[in-house]
Amino acid sequence: MTRFGDLDPPQRLLMGPGPVNAHPRVLRAMSADLLGQFDPEMTAYMNEVMALYRPIFGTENRWTFLVNGTARAGIEAALVSLVAPGDRVLVLDFGRFGALLKEILERIGAEVSSVDAPWGEVVPREAVEAAVARVRPKVVATVHGDTSTTMAQPLEGLGRICQEAGALSYVDATATIGGMEIAADRWGVDVVTGGLQKCLGGPSGSAPITVSEAAAARIFSRRHVEKGIRRDDIQDGTGLRIGANYFDLAMVMDYWSEKRLNHHTEATTMLYGARECARVVLEEGLAARAARHAAAGRAVTAGARALGLTVFGDDRYRMSNVTAIVIPEGVDGEAVRRRMREDFEIEIGTAFGPLAGRVWRIGAMGYNARKHKVLITLGALEAVLRAEGFGTPAGAGVEAALAAWNDG
Ligand SMILES: Cc1ncc(COP(=O)(O)O)c(C=O)c1O
Repeated sequence: MTRFGDLDPPQRLLMGPGPVNAHPRVLRAMSADLLGQFDPEMTAYMNEVMALYRPIFGTENRWTFLVNGTARAGIEAALVSLVAPGDRVLVLDFGRFGALLKEILERIGAEVSSVDAPWGEVVPREAVEAAVARVRPKVVATVHGDTSTTMAQPLEGLGRICQEAGALSYVDATATIGGMEIAADRWGVDVVTGGLQKCLGGPSGSAPITVSEAAAARIFSRRHVEKGIRRDDIQDGTGLRIGANYFDLAMVMDYWSEKRLNHHTEATTMLYGARECARVVLEEGLAARAARHAAAGRAVTAGARALGLTVFGDDRYRMSNVTAIVIPEGVDGEAVRRRMREDFEIEIGTAFGPLAGRVWRIGAMGYNARKHKVLITLGALEAVLRAEGFGTPAGAGVEAALAAWNDG
């Protein structure tokens, strides 16, 4: 029988759209000893996680917790719990992850409409208002920062538009949480989900989520506790049963509440990781962290331009943490990525859909949104571009990036 070797991954610098290198403190926390799921120490850690993620989401929501699974698990749990078959839902679609929201909603059996923007742009506020008035949705769903296009949809005022129309709102903030401001309460949005593996600086596998009282009421109206764990103190709702068990947020929330309903076995090690991610974020401070990601984004953009490259998308709505760079005519994008990986141990991202083969995506997120990592990446990119026959002014990228980083 082949037993294979010890795990010994190369020391890659992950400068793509995520995952990124996890903060060493997070990896250390994840090697802590396991606990039983109803151990008072474990439930105390769960409560701490709830408290730690409230400021990160910009919310006072009681229901702030983790969904086990990657960011997509949080998205799916939110949508399947909020939306019943036949419900009208409006999606703001400006990239691959808007398309993902539609795909999940169609599988739920929702009546899905969308208001679309071309890749590289965002949906204008007037278009959102007009679509909400036309569709009269029960739920409006959007992505905050869509890594596929690197655009961030402005969300100020979205909640008011939805509330006035009687709709709940959902935001996928996977790619921005911990890097750009998330202001769930000020935006007035109802459910926001994230993931650890980008600006929060952890591994993928846990999806922080926050749920407003209004959304919680909708979810609990659909509560239907599975037969084997029914209890007299937990009453079913009158609404349509949620169309998933694992992602049934009514049961997940009963597990995270003092009721401690025995739904799933919380992923202890991921919870330790999520807790440490949040502690690192809050120790740095949310404003300082946003400023660090903004500096990294400015530096990548300025560096790329100084190398004679074009940055993709509308400057006004650029995410600070991921930048798409147009692959110049005559340059083999995959050969560049290969050389970056083989010669410099640096991963930069490829792209999907209409941007496949047209852009590289460079991320500077979480533990990797640091000056030296951005400068090393741009220096390597310059060397690789020259090796691939694309003439760039020597040293210009690093010089411009350094100036842009310091120009806060
Ligand atoms: C905006 C956005 N949403 C959702 C996801 C899906 O996350 P995961 O792969 O962790 O399920 C990603 C991952 O790249 C993302 O960028």
